[in-house]
Amino acid sequence: MSAHASTPVTVTVTGAAGQIGYALLFRLASGAMLGPNVPIKLNLLEIPQATQAAEGTALELMDCAFPLVAGMEVFDDPAKAFDGVNIAMLVGARPRGPGMERADLLSANGGIFSVQGKALNAGAAEDVKVVVVGNPANTNALIASAHAPDIPDSRFTAMTRLDHDRALAQLAAKMDQPVAAIRKLAIWGNHSASQYPDITHATVNGVSATSLVAESWIADEFIPRVAKRGAEIISVRGGSSAASAANAAVEHMRLWVQGTPDGDWTSMAVPSDGSYGVPEGIISSFPVTTHNGEYSIVQGLEISDFSRTRIDASVAELLSERDAVAQLGLL
Ligand code: NAD
Ligand code: LMR
Repeated sequence: MSAHASTPVTVTVTGAAGQIGYALLFRLASGAMLGPNVPIKLNLLEIPQATQAAEGTALELMDCAFPLVAGMEVFDDPAKAFDGVNIAMLVGARPRGPGMERADLLSANGGIFSVQGKALNAGAAEDVKVVVVGNPANTNALIASAHAPDIPDSRFTAMTRLDHDRALAQLAAKMDQPVAAIRKLAIWGNHSASQYPDITHATVNGVSATSLVAESWIADEFIPRVAKRGAEIISVRGGSSAASAANAAVEHMRLWVQGTPDGDWTSMAVPSDGSYGVPEGIISSFPVTTHNGEYSIVQGLEISDFSRTRIDASVAELLSERDAVAQLGLL
């Protein structure tokens, strides 16, 4: 990231004409992600059929007269859209419909991320940070990383902050407390129904969360509600989450760039370094802290038998997704 506030940060958003894109771009332009002093250059990438709609969004962005926007361009060529990019937000991909699991999108969406990984490798800035939102996000991030051998693997992440926020909101509602009362919640594993929202280490106003709720609530209500919230939104709203996903993408990157607050974590899907027995070679969600634009997996947490079983199940799913995309020739 530029040390000089006057040098614009180039942010590329793929799927710019989609639902999440529309909810995301105006937040980025307003300074919600990089702060009120950092000018931003927005690159909007779309497929050719959707560039006109993206141009329409660009007109609206212009009409907001955001003082931080130092430039804006619409592209249908990934090589041009990622040239010099500092922050790549890979949203563009097909969403699932009712009755589908996110992994059902692997063959439809996987190819997008090999092409974009190559384009990032060719042109991204040295400090590039990548977040994948398009589903199945963890495995798509792995595909992109595999096609960008010159970019450190650690720069490829996938978004589980939406799951983190959903978990915060569910626990806060149960406790009848504001979300700000909660610290150290974590999402482990895949952004899928197998994810493990973990309150073992969480506190509510400094009190251990697990001492405040019944085990049966955690296993039978909290975990399934959070893990299946994406499907609940699709069924109630008639389309997959958009503004909440955009908000989570802003938070994912804001925290990565600006740092997590003292005494708290965020959740990010990052390449495993073997921590907590999660094998290397997959991109799995962990509790992380961030400082000076770098993240670190929180170390030394005690993992209960219940947590172990849940983490292992989600990791097994990630390994099978990895094998499936390898068979499709995408790794
Ligand atoms: P959408 O269909 O409204 O928009 C997707 C956009 O991507 C479309 O405009 C399409 O033209 C574009 N696109 C497709 N291929 C592209 C490519 N190769 N390059 C650039 N753009 C391309 O979908 P949406 O609701 O915005 O959701 C986007 C993705 O995000 C979906 O895969 C969805 O499942 C996923 N999602 C993830 C999370 C998460 O928490 N990780 C949350 C919500 C949605
Ligand atoms: C979500 O969690 O809302 C997204 O991943 C969309 C989906 O398919 O559930």
